[in-house]
Amino acid sequence: MFALRRLATNAIISNTRAAHALPELPYAYEALEPIVSRDIMSLHHTKHHQTYVTNLNAAEEKLKTALSKGDISTVVSLEPALRFNGGGHLNHSIFWKNLSPESTQPSEPLKKAIESSFGGIQQLKDQLSASSIGVQGSGWGWLGYCPKSGCLKIATCANQDPLQATTGLIPLLGIDVWEHAYYLQYKNVRADYVKAIFEVVNWKDVSERFEKAKC
Ligand SMILES: [Fe+2]
Repeated sequence: MFALRRLATNAIISNTRAAHALPELPYAYEALEPIVSRDIMSLHHTKHHQTYVTNLNAAEEKLKTALSKGDISTVVSLEPALRFNGGGHLNHSIFWKNLSPESTQPSEPLKKAIESSFGGIQQLKDQLSASSIGVQGSGWGWLGYCPKSGCLKIATCANQDPLQATTGLIPLLGIDVWEHAYYLQYKNVRADYVKAIFEVVNWKDVSERFEKAKC
């Protein structure tokens, strides 16, 4: 009960924290054309990502109220909404920065790590593509850093499950394979979308995430 009271106190203190907000895209909606259309980027950002942010804030408000009352049943019942909407916010916040209209290359340390873990950049692309295309239903394909082994690994997550909380891997590069990410342009051909998305990967951002993950 003491721990629960402490949680409640922390929750009340954190009431002063600003609600989560939709991050601005680091480029214009049309910047990734022709790989990703303006319509997709606009809808994906202003409707889909915004909905995760709105619903995460609502779930956190309910959590704070439940914690302040010591209402464990409600606290537990909120887990799916926190995972789905918190994951959706986390995943998309990474995804926007993982993409860029600029041509970029992996840093030398990342290139070496890719060679060590996969054999080379093409092998990484092939494996990440195959895993992402193979996600059943909605989800994400990821390149992640494994803090335990120091290796790069590929993983997939269902729905909006966040990579680190689900697998322990630190996310470096995510591919959103929900239909909302490609259907308006690529229809049902997820493979074409996944193949094309590598044309706009921001390897500078992926390299910076790799450097931070190693610390
Ligand atoms: Fe998405």
